[in-house]
Amino acid sequence: MNTRETLKVNEKGHLEIGGADCVELAREFGTPLYVFDEAYIRRMMRVYRDTLEKEYAGNGLVLYASKAFSCEAVYRIARQERIGVDVVSGGELYTALKAGFPASKIYMHGNNKLDYELEEALDAGVGCIVADAYAEIDKIDREAKKRGRTQNILLRINPGVEAHTHAYIQTAKTDSKFGFSVADGTAEKITRYALSKKHVNLRGFHCHIGSQIFEKQSFVLAAEKCMDFAAEMKEKLGFVTEELNMGGGFGIWYTDEDKKISPEGYGEYLEALISAVKARALEKGLKLPYLLVEPGRSIVGEAGITLYTVGAVKEIPGVKKYVAIDGGMFDNPRYALYQAKYTPVLASRAGEAAAELVSIAGKCCESGDLIAVNVLLPKAETGDILAILSTGAYNYSMAMNYNRNLIPPCVLVREGKADYIVRPQTYEDLTRNDVVPDFLAQTDK
Ligand code: LLP
Repeated sequence: MNTRETLKVNEKGHLEIGGADCVELAREFGTPLYVFDEAYIRRMMRVYRDTLEKEYAGNGLVLYASKAFSCEAVYRIARQERIGVDVVSGGELYTALKAGFPASKIYMHGNNKLDYELEEALDAGVGCIVADAYAEIDKIDREAKKRGRTQNILLRINPGVEAHTHAYIQTAKTDSKFGFSVADGTAEKITRYALSKKHVNLRGFHCHIGSQIFEKQSFVLAAEKCMDFAAEMKEKLGFVTEELNMGGGFGIWYTDEDKKISPEGYGEYLEALISAVKARALEKGLKLPYLLVEPGRSIVGEAGITLYTVGAVKEIPGVKKYVAIDGGMFDNPRYALYQAKYTPVLASRAGEAAAELVSIAGKCCESGDLIAVNVLLPKAETGDILAILSTGAYNYSMAMNYNRNLIPPCVLVREGKADYIVRPQTYEDLTRNDVVPDFLAQTDK
């Protein structure tokens, strides 16, 4: 089992997270249940913040990529830790503002921001919008003019760095719906365009090369390419890049096939990126840009686990043993989407040795509704509590109501004490927006 300090096996042989017994949590809050260790989230935010402080004289800002896990509590934690956030939709922006997050430290992303989302961002006074389309620049210019001001923007560029990760999660290949390519000149073209707009204040560039990346060199290369582009824009257009946002993407441990990086180890990734920016600035005679990074997964991913109750256990002789749980793709669609791998722990008997190879199946009416395939577990029985580790990122945030299953609640654990940060959904929530139009009701008669 993973040896990170947020998890341990207690004297009852139960899995513990942040000092809370998972079997007790399951009893108190029910399953399925997302559980987050507050200390780990804070520690990760601090590692990035302190590294930027120490290695870059604090000339920058860490943005928590809230798409990884968005709810009021997490914005509150980010605010308390004095970092910024990025949001990618009106819904995330609304949640951040509702949590009292300062708009000036919010960056707005999206490859196709809707008109109303841009208006909401301008109304809120977000610190920066990362623009990714000509029409978007026009819209920002018009809306800023209406409000009698200018709006800070960055342009999303594609430095063309191949990072090793799942194809769907990769974003900086040449064929991408995100950004404008440096290689084919479209990044330069849109830079000229943004500079021609009176109410748009182009501050610099943004890139994000993908997610779940372990190769430091990929981040270094991307930073070098962005700085080279900044140098080119200075030379050709006299444009000074004030700000550079290098996105997120640092990988986390899901299974032993992944690297296990300590919180401090992530600081080293940021250090490598910072060194590359500094070296290139020196070499090219550029001003050191205000530097941003946007880690999401690495902040909340390993902080979270999901607890389930084992239900049906079905053996297909000579083929497979399925252990079915009370959750599935509706709370964690990552296996279905990316064949993502996870580590299960039988939380109610975590001290026992692995005894058999099983596949963990969800309860949705869909064969592909699996959480983990061919994983080792002690002999699981109906009623056991099962934990899936490293589910803090892109699980709750990608949850859905398929089959009208209820999206599980989230609890936050601090020193053994737990409380809701997202309350359970109810059947009433599911039908809240259902209506039967009159013409349909008439058919009853
Ligand atoms: N910044 C930008 C512009 C992004 O697009 C992303 C992630 C991040 C930051 C944060 O990246 P992170 O540090 O979390 O790797 N649903 C997929 C992940 C999609 C990531 C999309 N962008 C998954 O479940 O693996």
